[in-house]
Amino acid sequence: MKAIVNTVYGSPDVLSLREVEKPIPKDNEVLIKIHSSTVNRTDCGFRKPEYFIVRLFSGIFKPKNTILGNELVGEVEAIGKNVSKFKTGDAIFGLSTWKFGTHAEYICMAETASIATKPTNMTFDEATAVCDGMMLAMNMIRQIDFSSPKKILINGATGSIGTACVQLAKFYGAEITAVGNTKNLELIKSLGADSVKDYTQEDFTKTSDRFDFVLDAVGKSSFFRCKKILKRKGVYISTELGFLSQNIFLAIFSPLFGGKRVKFPIPTDSQKDILLFKEIIESGKYKAIIDRTYPFDQFLEATRYVESGEKTGNVVLKIVD
Ligand SMILES: NC(=O)c1ccc[n+]([C@@H]2O[C@H](COP(=O)([O-])OP(=O)(O)OC[C@H]3O[C@@H](n4cnc5c(N)ncnc54)[C@H](OP(=O)(O)O)[C@@H]3O)[C@@H](O)[C@H]2O)c1
Repeated sequence: MKAIVNTVYGSPDVLSLREVEKPIPKDNEVLIKIHSSTVNRTDCGFRKPEYFIVRLFSGIFKPKNTILGNELVGEVEAIGKNVSKFKTGDAIFGLSTWKFGTHAEYICMAETASIATKPTNMTFDEATAVCDGMMLAMNMIRQIDFSSPKKILINGATGSIGTACVQLAKFYGAEITAVGNTKNLELIKSLGADSVKDYTQEDFTKTSDRFDFVLDAVGKSSFFRCKKILKRKGVYISTELGFLSQNIFLAIFSPLFGGKRVKFPIPTDSQKDILLFKEIIESGKYKAIIDRTYPFDQFLEATRYVESGEKTGNVVLKIVD
């Protein structure tokens, strides 16, 4: 089968399209013929780890997983003899978070992995472009107690995580102020933002509004800059570690003072999460935001675009035409 392989860390040029062995499902696995994947910031972060801590998961000197890609949509082509949750022909969507491997024509995954049958109201390409953003956004959203009304500011609301954050926060009933660029203000309003701020025109940390949570989905602010716009017990969460990995230390020490604090939840995913995402999508209250779609052999162009940090939502990599 064809796969995009990287055996060393580095720029997008370390990626190459190669012929590799097609996997064979074990007794508890399904063999999925991948229809589409995405190129996302998680792939970029594992291809060229900026923080040493990432190498603890991805391999200290060279990548442990030589095929990137963590989102997929596809069709079950074969099943192991103990598989009971899926059958041949099922359309599947989901995540291969830590093992990656979806930039390939086939993947084997345990039937208990983070996969589920594709939402009925999404196309194949839409269904591949939701899980990573939803999982990373849900990781932040789960820190919020929605039993009382919450005012939330979301920075970087136009990215994969940001567009998911806005939609999920809306789904759970928050009042949302979202920050993005001029060209996408209407988009983020349509996803559920109650008010929007254009970061090219104003500094959102200068607002007189006060928030229960600031979710920085692009990691371009800091707790110290956002502290003044948080309510007395407000919480700051970022998708980035921040200068000198400060968000980890602040997450440990800021709660000791009893006031405004930082949380840095470690992303996790499970089949239960994917089933929840499917339910939210099928409720009609969640849209896939796709910026560009590239054919499989244009993985370099797709990667360079994603690495620019300027995409709106998600970039699909079409493996089957
Ligand atoms: N914690 C984790 O496990 C994890 C995993 C994946 C990614 N990440 C990190 O999370 C961040 C977001 O990921 P993503 O996949 O959502 O990225 P993305 O899709 O590349 O989105 C970033 C978005 O932010 C916008 N943006 C750029 N500069 C901005 C600014 N100063 N203020 C507000 N918006 C700005 C960009 O659009 P314009 O430039 O056009 O404005 C783009 O739409 C990245 O920093 C990534 O490294 C963390």
